[in-house]
Amino acid sequence: MLIRTSALHDPLPSEITPRSAYLNRPTRREALAALSLAAASPLALAQPAAPGGGKLPRLPGARSAVAGAFVMDRPTSYADATSYNNFYEFGTDKADPTEHAHTLKTRPWTVSIEGECGRPGRFDIEALLKLAPMEERLYRLRCVEGWSMVIPWTGYSLAELLKQAQPTSKAKYVEFTSLADRSQMPGVRSGVLDWPYVEGLRIDEAMHPLAMLVFGMYGEMLPNQNGAPLRLALPWKYGFKSAKSIVKIRFVEKEPMSSWTKAAQQEYGFYSNVNPSVPHPRWSQAAERRIGEDGLFSKKRPTLMFNGYEAQVGQLYAGMDLKRFY
Ligand code: MTE
Repeated sequence: MLIRTSALHDPLPSEITPRSAYLNRPTRREALAALSLAAASPLALAQPAAPGGGKLPRLPGARSAVAGAFVMDRPTSYADATSYNNFYEFGTDKADPTEHAHTLKTRPWTVSIEGECGRPGRFDIEALLKLAPMEERLYRLRCVEGWSMVIPWTGYSLAELLKQAQPTSKAKYVEFTSLADRSQMPGVRSGVLDWPYVEGLRIDEAMHPLAMLVFGMYGEMLPNQNGAPLRLALPWKYGFKSAKSIVKIRFVEKEPMSSWTKAAQQEYGFYSNVNPSVPHPRWSQAAERRIGEDGLFSKKRPTLMFNGYEAQVGQLYAGMDLKRFY
């Protein structure tokens, strides 16, 4: 399949200001005041794109220079982003993770790096927090269930960590494993998935600068329900590819079998790139509802190819039949 690349003068879908953001735009006076503040103090740039809950330690990030790291959409409120979650290790209802994830112990925490690499090892979370400068990125998150959010994440490109491990030429894929501890995670006692939660990426996807290793959101450390102490954010893929509370990263030669593919191969493919023209057997992917903005009865907003990140990631899939490799 041909990947359409926009002509230089065309705005990218991610650059088009949605009506809601336009209506909520700052006045000229507010914009000038913000600009002069930013110019006066470099710290002002480390202010989060939207306020957090104020209860967790701060984790500011500098404005990212990665192309596509910011969208014009209005950030979802912290309250919505931390109370409407998918984290099946804590239950299958959207409110379960907020209610139950307080039992998750995020210190001490180590991530083991294994498989086809020259420097395998164990990384302590404190070392990971210092591995590369923290950046803030405002990404869209599109769930396969048909809803979406816009979240200011704090972290850095996953490539920063993967490079340290020196993957060998046999490392064609990367597999990510989440914690599965029955004593801390009540959902793991259920048979809804074959635990632990496993996800995977092709090595070039994992090395793409937009693929992010996330430690915080809204300028604060990640709340447990959002995948503390570290998770992925892959804005061009359906949300389930972004594994939470990661304990193992493994370089492998063969395509990893992710938990969702194992559970229902016809419904969840390995790639799971956001694609409005490839419907899920139970849900059309053509449109979405933005949590906190679009009500149950308002018209859904159209979903964009690769969630609006086509200019950045389209080339990764040049020549591939995206219906077959869904
Ligand atoms: N990671 C683990 N370990 N377990 C999960 O159940 N759910 C996924 C993904 N990562 C999930 C996970 C799904 S379906 C989505 S949509 C996103 O996390 C939701 O992230 P959020 O709750 O921070 O919005």
